[in-house]
Amino acid sequence: MAERLKILAINGPNLNMLGTREPEIYGAQTLADIEARCRSICEEGGAELEWMQSNSEAEIVSLVQQAAGNADWIVINAAGLTHVSVPLRDALALYPGRKIEIHLSNVHKRESFRDHSMISAVVDGVVLGFGAMSYVMAIRGILEMVRES
Ligand code: DQA
Repeated sequence: MAERLKILAINGPNLNMLGTREPEIYGAQTLADIEARCRSICEEGGAELEWMQSNSEAEIVSLVQQAAGNADWIVINAAGLTHVSVPLRDALALYPGRKIEIHLSNVHKRESFRDHSMISAVVDGVVLGFGAMSYVMAIRGILEMVRES
């Protein structure tokens, strides 16, 4: 039997505050709500989902390093680290699996410092601006791509 596809979702700093954090930008759903939605999509699609959140850059870099050989895809909302983290970019560049960057908000429509992503150049795809649906779209997209391959 083929091994189950494994997706690792990594959520960066302050995403644990979703629900109360600037709901006019990020929406009313909590991270647990988004996780539940993604879990049910993965279960339906026969994939395994590992879901992590950390406020620590070091911890997130370690998670990406440990994903090599343990996860087939990374879906990452690096939050504020997106715009500043060379260590995260380097870790993602090393990761041999496929990786998708996501954001709830359209970062290009906001403050100019959010316009640049340190990680976009080392990922396979980017989904942004659809709120919680950005996560759903990324996961559904992965499942469909794998099904078609
Ligand atoms: C974010 C956008 C980032 O600029 C911000 O720092 C976040 C969330 C988003 O999902 O829209 O924390 O990644």
